[in-house]
Amino acid sequence: MGEFAELTFRGRTIRLPVVEGTEGDIGLDVSSLRSELGAITMDPGFANTGSCRSAITFIDGEQGILRYRGYDIADLAEHTTFLETAMLLLKGELPTKPELDAFTESVKEYMVLHEDVRHFFNAFPKDAHPMAVAGAVVGSLSTFYPEAMDPRNVEESRESCRRLLAKLPTIIAWSYKHSRGRPMAYPHHSMGYVENFLHMLFSAPYRDYVPDPLVVRALEMIFVLHADHEQNCSTSTVRVVGSAQANMFAAISAGVWALWGPLHGGANQALIEMLEHIRQSGLTPRQFIDQVKNKTSTIRLMGFGHRVYKNYDPRAKVLKKAAFEALERLGIQNELLDLAVRLEEAALTDDYFIERKLYPNVDFYSGIILKAIGIPLTMFTAIFAIGRMPGWLAQFHEMQRDPETRIARPRQVYTGQARRDFLPIEQRG
Ligand code: ACO
Repeated sequence: MGEFAELTFRGRTIRLPVVEGTEGDIGLDVSSLRSELGAITMDPGFANTGSCRSAITFIDGEQGILRYRGYDIADLAEHTTFLETAMLLLKGELPTKPELDAFTESVKEYMVLHEDVRHFFNAFPKDAHPMAVAGAVVGSLSTFYPEAMDPRNVEESRESCRRLLAKLPTIIAWSYKHSRGRPMAYPHHSMGYVENFLHMLFSAPYRDYVPDPLVVRALEMIFVLHADHEQNCSTSTVRVVGSAQANMFAAISAGVWALWGPLHGGANQALIEMLEHIRQSGLTPRQFIDQVKNKTSTIRLMGFGHRVYKNYDPRAKVLKKAAFEALERLGIQNELLDLAVRLEEAALTDDYFIERKLYPNVDFYSGIILKAIGIPLTMFTAIFAIGRMPGWLAQFHEMQRDPETRIARPRQVYTGQARRDFLPIEQRG
């Protein structure tokens, strides 16, 4: 037997095997706890629970390190395209040029949606949030590909991966067009993945949209930075649904909806709304920080704090620099960026934030870039979803092939009524 920890409870001692990762992460295997001691672990929010072993993404929250397949996030953000990073996540290695070209071509082939799917959009209310539409349409894809229901079928899973990666930008761009009452633009084969998304978002039959390469690059980088983040809320959702061997479209649509929450991917939209509110109400950053610290209010400083990072989120570092560069090169004077910087300074020098180790997270500066490059506010979380797709897919794929995977089924400690006698209705009151 390898290394183990000992746990003593009510006079009985058991051994918990130690699981060690390549970067020194330590897990204690508690899977025998209930059968040996009759007890379970309590860990609300799973903050100390390792749900799997994974070889995809490494985070050191104390040091502020994020790596995909061993590569530093800042290097990938600077040097790779989104599809290159997607291949890295999905296959484990950076592709060669011919491999990337072939993958890009096949993804582009799949960007178009089945023509019948186009009619779905008319059934949604005009003010439907793009994330609601995206979740619904992604789930509906399972009705179009009935041959792809078994997530353990490697060939079909590969096809579904490509379809999902390719079709989400089209779904999201079309949800925007529908909300504006404008005709939908089809993906164009001559364009790259990111350009195609921008074209479908902004082109009209009477006016082509030619994206500025700076805008394409900024969005590409935002997608790369969001591509995976190990066992976060939406990814764990994808894994939980997939653990029941539900099909990939069902699992990914659940992930889209989890991401929508304002404590998760919805924070980038909430952040801009917060900055607009501060600006309009004339509050100083310090006054707003005081409101956040007041424990009788429910206001949070959006874009700050993270379950894992107790240091500056490395993605926020890249994005802060990129926000300054993009705004300068686009010649935009952005009051919101100034306000964000002043808020960050006020928070990082405040004892409340220092004691709780609250730093800017990925959403703090991404929203400012998205706004500057003309992405509508309601689309921000949907942009995050496009970025996160390779991570969801890679994690789903890894889970299906992991012999340790079991259906996700946590336990509970019951705190309700003890057994009592049934009362017929006429005797109650
Ligand atoms: N503003 C003010 N206080 C905060 C914030 C914040 N943004 N974040 C955490 N805190 C405080 C909490 O009130 C709590 O204080 P207490 O100990 O006095 O009760 C303490 O810090 C710990 O916070 P928890 O909520 O327990 O931390 P948790 O790990 O559960 O939550 C989360 C992490 C949800 C990200 C949280 O920091 C938050 O709500 N941030 C704002 C929303 C946000 O930016 N979300 C995006 C996260 S990144 C992503 O999903 C892409």
